[in-house]
Amino acid sequence: MDSWVNSAEILGSDLPLELSGTGNRRALLMDALREAVRSGRLAPGTRLPPYRSLAADLGLARNTVADAYAELVAEGWLAARQGSGTRVAERAAPVTPVHRPRTPERAARPVHDLVQGQPDPSVFPRTAWLASARRALAAAPDDAFGPGDPHGRPELRRALAGYLARVRGVRASPERIVLCSGAAHGLRLLAEVVGGPWAAEEYGLPFHRELLASHGVGTRPLGVDADGARVDGLTRRDRAVLLTPAHQFPTGGPLHPARRAAVVDWARATGGLVVEDDYDGEFRYDRQPVGAVQGLDPEHVVLVGSVSKSLSPALRIGWMVLPQRLVAPVVAAKGEREQFSSATEQLTLADFVESGAYDRQVRRMRQRHRRRRDQLVAALHARAPHVRVTGIAAGLHAVLELPPGTERSAVRAAAWQGLAVEGLGDYLHPGAEHRTAAASLVPHRDGLVVGYATPAESAYPEALGALCRSLPPVSPSPAPAPPQPPAAP
Ligand SMILES: Cc1ncc(COP(=O)(O)O)c(C=O)c1O
Repeated sequence: MDSWVNSAEILGSDLPLELSGTGNRRALLMDALREAVRSGRLAPGTRLPPYRSLAADLGLARNTVADAYAELVAEGWLAARQGSGTRVAERAAPVTPVHRPRTPERAARPVHDLVQGQPDPSVFPRTAWLASARRALAAAPDDAFGPGDPHGRPELRRALAGYLARVRGVRASPERIVLCSGAAHGLRLLAEVVGGPWAAEEYGLPFHRELLASHGVGTRPLGVDADGARVDGLTRRDRAVLLTPAHQFPTGGPLHPARRAAVVDWARATGGLVVEDDYDGEFRYDRQPVGAVQGLDPEHVVLVGSVSKSLSPALRIGWMVLPQRLVAPVVAAKGEREQFSSATEQLTLADFVESGAYDRQVRRMRQRHRRRRDQLVAALHARAPHVRVTGIAAGLHAVLELPPGTERSAVRAAAWQGLAVEGLGDYLHPGAEHRTAAASLVPHRDGLVVGYATPAESAYPEALGALCRSLPPVSPSPAPAPPQPPAAP
């Protein structure tokens, strides 16, 4: 059947709807409406024609159109409100994945966002932040409004030294801390000062590898298994190693205590530097946070942290706790003046930490993330019990292990469900799959990296539904053994 209609009721403009193909008319209509939303012809908020008139225009039964609307509401493409008809859902707007190049799968305007990356922006603690900003501005010394010192405001360095020692076991004095514009900026500065090559975990953030490369520092992959990075693969040639010891990113395990000691031994023996990306160290759910490796040897480990996971990536405030010998070169690389984050924002964060608001926000977020994680585990248990979920003891994301060869199709199926989610392979260091296969360290794993912190509270159950519908079915079990003849008495 091929039928076209110019439906003038839709915001008074023409919307040609093409129901092409044969088969179930409700499904054809749903496809046409999804495509109209995806392509942007139906913008979020657009009111759809009443189902009776669309049914008349398209020559369909009213129930067919009503059912199609209802199903698209359940999938999150449309929203229905008593008295205002059916509209394109606001969340049907394109969701831009964080740090990721767009792939054809993601170009499909997802409705749900389970790409790992950021906390739900709607839970930023506006009132408490505003109170800190007021106090900080009122108490700021005059020099806060002059050209800034590239070390960063002393008030914030003092507050962080206390906080990081108490919560992360970091050995920090304010003099060792240099503020930066997020972890990304810290890595850029370290690349400039330390030079390459670096070793990096074979699973990691591509954006970090790319920014190191753009500063002349090549990386080579270091194997990762259930105990974290295989630090026995480090050599004398490596100038530094980039690690995520508290919660391997993105596979999720902590670095084994023996490996924590081994990486420090490597640094001492070779003069290499351990760069500890402590991106979500506060978010541990099942026991006390795993302390920072930096506490083992502050002269060989740089701890890099930021508020991007705990508060917001928009603040662009991060820190490095540096070995003494690197403080002056890093400050010199930063420039003569603070050019990267505003002194008033730094003072506000200092007050936020000192007043206890930061602890309260982290505690609140920890409870919320843990609840989200539990909902994810329960949904999988109920609807996809064959899928194993790992890396759940900490952080804002988990990994769903998939049968070999099914990752890409699961990402595509998710896109089809209007869900943005990434495969584990998106995080693999280029070349690592060949190296690991050849050296049989760990086989390349198929999996999905599911960020559970981002969706708004109301959107999360639907996002989980779309996720479960995207997962591959149970792999066929081996054929049962043929029945045996009864044993002779
Ligand atoms: C592995 C990892 N490290 C660090 C960060 C923080 O980056 P930034 O402080 O530059 O926003 C992120 C993202 O939030 C991340 O995923």
